[in-house]
Amino acid sequence: MKKLLSASLTLTVALLAAPLVYAQDQGMQEAAGRQLFLHHCTACHSLDSSKNAFGPSLIGVMGRPAGSVPRFAYSKAMEASGLTWTADNLRKWISNNEGLVPGTRMRHVSITDPAEQDYLISFLATLK
Ligand code: HEC
Repeated sequence: MKKLLSASLTLTVALLAAPLVYAQDQGMQEAAGRQLFLHHCTACHSLDSSKNAFGPSLIGVMGRPAGSVPRFAYSKAMEASGLTWTADNLRKWISNNEGLVPGTRMRHVSITDPAEQDYLISFLATLK
């Protein structure tokens, strides 16, 4: 009985641990992304949802149409871009924003390491 109990306990622990490992990975990606964001983006983008800074608030950016934050003076280029901020477009934007939207007011950003792009995109997806 004891053996059975400990075997089933082991199984339960193993089953519980699997999603935890994934969550930890995801959490680590987001944490790395936060560091990148603090380093490269917060000079112009506030993490306070109610605030636009030099750049528009990025709260809720994932899935949002480009140039749609109220009371932010976007460039004509951004307003006319017709883009939606999918993970794919965010990747293009942070790897070469002027390539994606020529004439944008955002200073040139070039994060070319695919792992860093993944981290930053995971973090941006948490901004809700
Ligand atoms: C020097 C200031 C500055 C920095 C640094 C900066 N941005 Fe921006 N960002 C802006 C401005 C200004 C705009 C508006 C651009 C326009 O209207 O053409 C913008 C726009 C954006 C948009 C489009 C938002 C929307 O509402 O359509 C995204 C996404 C974005 N920035 C992400 C980032 C990320 C991620 C970083 C860091 C890697 C970053 N920005 C760094 C100033 C900055």
